[in-house]
Amino acid sequence: MDESRVRNNRAYYEVLAPEYDNAVRNRYLVNEEVSLRLARQSSLESIQSVLDLGSGTGATLETVLKYTRPTSVVAVDFSGRMLELLKNKISIPGLRTVQNDIDTYLANDSTRFDLITAIGGLELVPDPLKLMATINRHMADDGLFIFTYEPQLVGMRDQSEASTTYTRELEGKTLEFSVFRANPKHVQQTLEAQKLEIVSNELVPAYPRGGSVVQYGLLVVRKPSVL
Ligand SMILES: C[S@@+](CC[C@H](N)C(=O)[O-])C[C@H]1O[C@@H](n2cnc3c(N)ncnc32)[C@H](O)[C@@H]1O
Repeated sequence: MDESRVRNNRAYYEVLAPEYDNAVRNRYLVNEEVSLRLARQSSLESIQSVLDLGSGTGATLETVLKYTRPTSVVAVDFSGRMLELLKNKISIPGLRTVQNDIDTYLANDSTRFDLITAIGGLELVPDPLKLMATINRHMADDGLFIFTYEPQLVGMRDQSEASTTYTRELEGKTLEFSVFRANPKHVQQTLEAQKLEIVSNELVPAYPRGGSVVQYGLLVVRKPSVL
């Protein structure tokens, strides 16, 4: 069931890529919030390696590159079209694009990164809490993980279910995509169980959907260095 929903999400984002790239500038508010959080962090100059999960057409990486000068950047997205658009915009030495599913990439790679970002990506994987529980082993000591998830907000129209499948007509095709939500309390407990330090944890406006504005949880998390 979840596998077919991930397959549908992939087909949807592959078709959506050019429209997403146009919309992201005006309607996708969350990278501005990421920018504000990055500006508050100290020792960003020590960030050498960056992993961006669900990198889309590069809006998150462009934000990250305003504040850091990494020598190695890995951008993971399962849509080849998204990654092509990203490569048109970002050409820095050390950039590697990986066309893969986020869960599969993380399960098969053990590289550690100074900064991991996942902005607008985790609500598209079927078990965001499981991913949060495994991210620790991909973080360098003192490394940062900056991510969003879509919270399940009881009583709030359009965000009260644990997951929702939406249908859209695009390029003459009927496409489905699914959003998977997480309980804010469970997110906090999962990170605490990993002994990750929660630097900030806020609800932020993400983008308009169906007459309301989707709220994301935006977290900055640090992996304490072992003394
Ligand atoms: C909402 S966009 C966010 C893109 C970018 N981070 C930004 O802020 O503009 C989500 C991206 O995640 C990708 N994506 C969704 N689910 C994925 C998965 N399971 N594995 C890899 N990429 C995924 C989509 O193709 C899309 O490019």
